[in-house]
Amino acid sequence: MVETKVLISEQQLREKVAELAATLKEDYRDKHPLIIGILKGSFMFMADLIREMDIPLEVEFVNLSSYGRGATESAGKVKMVQGLTTPVKGRHVLVIEDIVDTGLTIRYLLDSLLKKKPASLKLCALLDKPSRREIDVPIDYLGFTVANVFVVGYGIDWDERFRYLRDVCFVEV
Ligand code: IMP
Ligand code: MG
Repeated sequence: MVETKVLISEQQLREKVAELAATLKEDYRDKHPLIIGILKGSFMFMADLIREMDIPLEVEFVNLSSYGRGATESAGKVKMVQGLTTPVKGRHVLVIEDIVDTGLTIRYLLDSLLKKKPASLKLCALLDKPSRREIDVPIDYLGFTVANVFVVGYGIDWDERFRYLRDVCFVEV
């Protein structure tokens, strides 16, 4: 039996999203940013964030698959399953990620985006799990730092389960 316990409540998420969006709105006003969400985990966070930002922007998604270390372990290797359909050159790009764990996934994406010569490239992550970091990645806009627990909810899954939860929870097996 798997139980989930609330780690970050819906209310806390809403307040943090509003705060992040207010900052992003200032930073990206008049820049018509290209906002790139990493599927699938970031979809709910991104939907809430861009509604609060309320400035002209463009939305894109990439789907990266990580493999090599099993279900609750993060990326050994990363590959792009579904890529971009919009040119990145000269654009102000903001990548939206659910959680930065080892850093391997996001490093792979940032490196491949940098090669396309964006005008700027920043990262916004809902959650940071610094205790597990293997590769240094600067998080420009961060929601919350979490301990080394496995989290689900608010778009984030455990083997495709629990994405629909309104709160960010941790799993107790
Ligand atoms: P990284 O490459 O190790 O940084 O892994 C990042 C990816 O692993 C995230 O985008 C998530 O999809 C997944 N991940 C890492 N930690 C968790 C977690 O606690 N719950 C669910 N997915 C996680
Ligand atoms: Mg992910």
